[in-house]
Formats: sequence, C-alpha cells, structure tokens
Amino acid sequence: MFKKSETLALGCDHAGYELKEFLKIKLAETGYSVRDFGTYSTASMDYPDVAHPVASAVNEGQYSTAVLICGTGIGMSITANKYESIRAALCWNNELAKLSREHNDANILCLPARFIEAEKALQAVLIFLKTEFAGGRHQVRVDKIQIK
Ligand code: RB5
Repeated sequence: MFKKSETLALGCDHAGYELKEFLKIKLAETGYSVRDFGTYSTASMDYPDVAHPVASAVNEGQYSTAVLICGTGIGMSITANKYESIRAALCWNNELAKLSREHNDANILCLPARFIEAEKALQAVLIFLKTEFAGGRHQVRVDKIQIK
C-alpha cells in the first residue's frame, strides 16, 4: 500500500494533461506528495517520452507507485510494462483499480483520460493508493509473470 509519506510519480501525454492537472491538485489537497513528470501542456507529444522516465524511475525503486495518463491509457500501459519490475494496469473504474492492487500488485495505474470522468478517475486513484496486495495465491501468480 502506498504511504502518504512517499511521493507519487505522475505523468501524462497531451490527451491526459487536463486530467493530470486535476489529479495533481486534488491529490495535493488530500495530503499526497506528487512528482510531476509532465507533459506540461496540451501540445501534441509522444506518450513514450513520459512513460519511459516514469516507468524507469519506478523500476529503479525511486518511486514505489505511479499514475500514467493518456487518451486511452493503452500506450502508457504498453510502454511501462516493458520494464522488468513494472506491473502497469489500465483501469477505468474503482473495482478494477482495487483488483489491480489486490490481485496483481500493480505499481502503475494507467488511466484513459478520454474515457473516464475526472472525479471517477480521482476515486480510482485514491482506491489504488489505499489498497493492499492480497498476497497468498496471488503472490504465486505474480511471481510467474517474469520471463525466466
Ligand atoms: C493521442 O492521440 C493518443 O493516441 C494517446 O493519448 C494514447 O491514447 C495512446 O495510447
């Protein structure tokens, strides 16, 4: 589970910029510390240019958890999951966000900005941050994800 003493890594492309800014403000109001990896405007850019620095930082242990946002969430999740220790989950409601933590020990939440309302995305993020990995049989499965 994410601790409020930690810093959350947050990144987006142009399609996710407005949602990222909304989440940044709301998370700060809720007492979370956020590191904003950009992008910093709605100017068109390429999602891997943000997904790589964020996923790399999580992979190296600089952050335990991140949120990545693009139009669909798909490009961000595909890119982030290239890293060995990354389990990036594309979620668009509270239940998926909760299960991605409980069952998959997801460490990056990917959000589809063009397919989710801002308030719903905020709720999904808060649930993602507060939910613990269930371990047990799910640990066995997570341990089998890596290509040996
Ligand atoms: C940008 O138009 C869009 O392709 C991007 O935000 C994302 O949805 C890609 O997966």
